[in-house]
Amino acid sequence: MYKMIIQGGQRLEGEIEVSGAKNATLPLMAASLMAGGCSTFTNVPRVNDVATACKLLTHLGASVERVGKDEIRIDASRITGHEAPYELVRTMRASVLVLGPLLARLGRARVSLPGGCAIGARPVDQHLKGLGALGVHIELDGGYIDARVDRMRGVRFCFDVSTVGGTETMLMAAVCAEGTTVLQNAACEPEVAELARVLNRMGARIEGIGTETLVIHGVRRLEPIRHEVIPDRIVAGTFMAAAAIAGGDVQIRKCPMDMLEAVADKMEACGIRIIRADDGVRVTREGPIRPVDIETFPYPGFPTDMQAQMMALLSVAEGTSVIREKIFENRFMHVLELQRMGADIRIRGNTAIVTGVPYLKGAPVMATDLRASASLVLAGLVARGTTVIDRVYHLDRGYERIEEKLNGLGANIQRVWED
Ligand code: UD1
Repeated sequence: MYKMIIQGGQRLEGEIEVSGAKNATLPLMAASLMAGGCSTFTNVPRVNDVATACKLLTHLGASVERVGKDEIRIDASRITGHEAPYELVRTMRASVLVLGPLLARLGRARVSLPGGCAIGARPVDQHLKGLGALGVHIELDGGYIDARVDRMRGVRFCFDVSTVGGTETMLMAAVCAEGTTVLQNAACEPEVAELARVLNRMGARIEGIGTETLVIHGVRRLEPIRHEVIPDRIVAGTFMAAAAIAGGDVQIRKCPMDMLEAVADKMEACGIRIIRADDGVRVTREGPIRPVDIETFPYPGFPTDMQAQMMALLSVAEGTSVIREKIFENRFMHVLELQRMGADIRIRGNTAIVTGVPYLKGAPVMATDLRASASLVLAGLVARGTTVIDRVYHLDRGYERIEEKLNGLGANIQRVWED
């Protein structure tokens, strides 16, 4: 297994580029199953979740080819399978996103239930309730969702919670349904809007993109397209946090600031300087980090996927911050590890009280989920001494060569293989 060894205390300076958004790529890859032909996506990040999605599409009969640095071609002319097996869904929960496209294309899908995961129960009840409303017959059998339908019929459906994956499933299912579907309380995350825009380019008729009400007029078929994936706002936010915690002066190219306003507001409140430019942003810090209170919300609120990274930053602030996690239960797995590095954090239910300490100390720590691992890298950058992060595979699910990119700014991170 790979480990990361970080020597803390280096100032970060220079330029870094943000890769394409993993969470936009995964639904687009699923949507390509609905177009009987070859779709091409560019600016696709080289991360393990994308590799898992490639395996899944290949398993379903599509032919998937990676071309050059960041292009992926998916030929979905022939889809021969309709099952997403447990091994793949367990590795990557977003595998459930093939449910809608398979039903639209084949009228049949068998997808493993994702089960629990490190950041809470994460049910898929809204996906299933929505599909049921579209006329899909669903049975749960042997840990699998077994879904069948002749043709889905448009319906008015209101989500009980704001769900990114649930909205994406319903969008993909409804585009080829008979008649009009109205989705209320839909998620407004940029990755959902990106999927809707791409579906429209494929021939779908979706209105209200980027709002909580999506109106989808069903069409008979979709056509393949070529599309450049949007930049990853969470990777960008993580680089901003890296510049902030390590101190320094970092230029982040392809940084989608329009999707990061809530994060930028909080960082500016911490005393970080953020200078916006056309193709990105410059992040600098000279003085101390000031404490700030944060609550996670659906977009455009502060993203849960930046909560762990902000906690690392606030653990060395001058004062006490309160962080409330309102999207996922149990998303404080990084706290125990940050505490091992000397952070002063207390948990009360879904609230973390973070009292800044003058410095963190390097320690052996363990990555527990994707964003938790990113917070440990950030803590390692500022800690005195050596931090060794175990289970780096969590990080590789969503960050492309993060150590190479940060080393390019002056960080000292080594990746080593240990049995
Ligand atoms: C997506 C993102 C993930 C991000 C999350 C919230 C991808 C691949 N992943 O995950 O990085 O952290 O959005 O922004 O895009 N819920 C239900 N029933 C459901 C579905 C969800 O109760 O059927 C609940 C969840 O338990 C959670 C909340 O809704 O409390 C939000 O989850 P959701 O938006 O669905 O997250 P994902 O799509 O899994």
